[in-house]
Amino acid sequence: MSLRLDDTVAVITGASSGIGAATARALAERGAHVALLARRADRLADLADEITQHNHGKAVAYSVDVADADAVRDVMTRVAADFGRIDILVNGAGVGTWAPALEAELADWQAMVDVNVSGVLNTTHAALAHLVSAADGPRGIADVVTISSIAGKRVPGPNSNVYSATKFAVNGFSEALRQELGAKHVRMGLIEPGLVTTEMTTTGETYAPDTTQPTGLGYLAPEDVADAVAYMITRPRHAAVNEIAIRPTEQSN
Ligand SMILES: NC(=O)c1ccc[n+]([C@@H]2O[C@H](COP(=O)([O-])OP(=O)(O)OC[C@H]3O[C@@H](n4cnc5c(N)ncnc54)[C@H](OP(=O)(O)O)[C@@H]3O)[C@@H](O)[C@H]2O)c1
Repeated sequence: MSLRLDDTVAVITGASSGIGAATARALAERGAHVALLARRADRLADLADEITQHNHGKAVAYSVDVADADAVRDVMTRVAADFGRIDILVNGAGVGTWAPALEAELADWQAMVDVNVSGVLNTTHAALAHLVSAADGPRGIADVVTISSIAGKRVPGPNSNVYSATKFAVNGFSEALRQELGAKHVRMGLIEPGLVTTEMTTTGETYAPDTTQPTGLGYLAPEDVADAVAYMITRPRHAAVNEIAIRPTEQSN
């Protein structure tokens, strides 16, 4: 049975596009108030307006670079003050650059580490005390969901080198926190999508992810991944769905 998210407060990073934006919509439809985090303020403001018009809950935009630990801590403090609590953190912000190691720019590797790893550490560290305190409240549970990747379970092929490494890193981090925080009623979840049609997979890449491309049925939609997030956090509080892998049906690796 799916529970509603009425009166919960969800912080979603990467909310300006793709999976993060779809997740913000999905959680708001289930009753959550949403704090929308990313760098592009105009995109966040438009989404906050849209959600506020379609749902009864509150939606507020916070422009922040998740790689900036001090800025993230400030924003998380503002969110807790503006909304009164933080029940759910969805780590959706991420970047991906696929290239053979011999041709790769070190700056691209660093950017993936900064956003995909340090970004997740920064937001999770800043949110944890709020989540533990929310888990003591009426809902009796709190959630951290990180959008990892199939590339965090196994290296999907050449050219996914550092992207895959960053996703392995957050998978390890999430599992370690799961072992620490279950007793405090904070659930840790990983969503591991295959190929999804978003800006990440459709704009400006010299090399696409090296995987067998789905043909007839196409990639996943951001909403498919958002549904998986919603499923994870609407279980009864005794049930923690810690990991969901979701691929396009035709994707082989
Ligand atoms: N698309 C796929 O096939 C796929 C597959 C598996 C996993 N994933 C993962 O899914 C997550 C979402 O990606 P997506 O596919 O939805 O791509 P997307 O549409 O490009 O969205 C990426 C989001 O991350 C935000 N972001 C990037 N750098 C940031 C920074 N320094 N600070 C704050 N926000 C930042 C972007 O917002 P701003 O640019 O406005 O800051 C944007 O909202 C990522 O973690 C990605 O690795 C994607």
